[in-house]
Amino acid sequence: DKRRKEEVSRHQQILDMAQAHYVAQLKLAQPAIRYLKQRGLSGAIAARFGLGWAGTDRRGLAAIFPQYEDPLLVESGLVIEADDGRRYDRFRERIMFPIRNTRGKLIGFGGRIIGKGEPKYLNSPETSLFSKGHELYGLWEARAGIRSAGHVLVVEGYMDVVGLAQHGVENAVATLGTATTAFHIEKLLRASHTIVFSFDGDTAGRRAAWRALNACLPLVRDDVAMRFLFLPTEHDPDSYIQAYGAEAFRATVSEAMPLSRFMMDELASRHAMHEAEGRAACVHEALPLLAMLPEGTLRLQIEREFAKRVQLTPEELSGMMRDAPPPSN
Ligand code: CTP
Ligand code: MN
Ligand code: MN
Ligand code: MN
Ligand code: MN
Repeated sequence: DKRRKEEVSRHQQILDMAQAHYVAQLKLAQPAIRYLKQRGLSGAIAARFGLGWAGTDRRGLAAIFPQYEDPLLVESGLVIEADDGRRYDRFRERIMFPIRNTRGKLIGFGGRIIGKGEPKYLNSPETSLFSKGHELYGLWEARAGIRSAGHVLVVEGYMDVVGLAQHGVENAVATLGTATTAFHIEKLLRASHTIVFSFDGDTAGRRAAWRALNACLPLVRDDVAMRFLFLPTEHDPDSYIQAYGAEAFRATVSEAMPLSRFMMDELASRHAMHEAEGRAACVHEALPLLAMLPEGTLRLQIEREFAKRVQLTPEELSGMMRDAPPPSN
């Protein structure tokens, strides 16, 4: 209704004012500028992503919001109210990454500390405008890059998105420190029918990729492609492109493995496939995953290939799928 609309637009206005403030602060903050330079980022890229700086002042935003006690500042996530009722800025001494929705409207921020300290990244809390399970950092900024590349790259971090763009790879988006959800995949499929996941090469990245695969399974279609790229264990996309350059990164993207192969390789790696017992356990783990796949040629293809790996006929496997309990999620 009308009051709700007014509140949304005030919330929006508050975020826009804070963003302008953080950008202006960055121009004055030599250590922050030095940090961004040291991470290989140019002023042009910082400007393109609207990077800013939240200063050291506990009530830095009071400079632009004379009504610092306005409850909407707390609701917008920019100000925190302590137990004793005192208020202070959520973001201090952090590089600010503005997060926009698919219409380009500011909905929240991520902030990175430049020295030591915890947490390394701090995000806006969930608000009426901002839900981490739905939004993807950089999707607005990458819209033209995704169109011209013909695929969207999904990475873990803010710095991966910005670092790749610095090297001309302008089609990357990041989940916001959460697992990839079905909402994310649906949003991504509206941007492109080819999704390439490129998470960190460490075990956390590999786990994140497996969770993303699980979110993808119900949305697999014959006209979409989901691929998974695994970097060397010590790298994330940002560090990889810094070390080896854009051509090398693009080459690894073009060799990313299809969902079907990641699924089967991962399942096989978890079981002793040279033994009957191992293959049986593998089938047991795979049945609910296979059941998540919608009907279609790709599902038939995956079933056929998987049957071969576990030494069943496709008919035996589909018989087991009919008898298996329906998937729990
Ligand atoms: N993240 C977070 N809170 C943390 C750590 C990480 O929300 N305390 C999220 C951030 O969105 C971050 C992503 O998880 O971008 C990936 O984390 P990580 O790989 O640790 O950071 P990088 O993106 O590689 O950041 P940097 O290169 O600046 O260290
Ligand atoms: Mn590109
Ligand atoms: Mn990581
Ligand atoms: Mn990194
Ligand atoms: Mn990383």
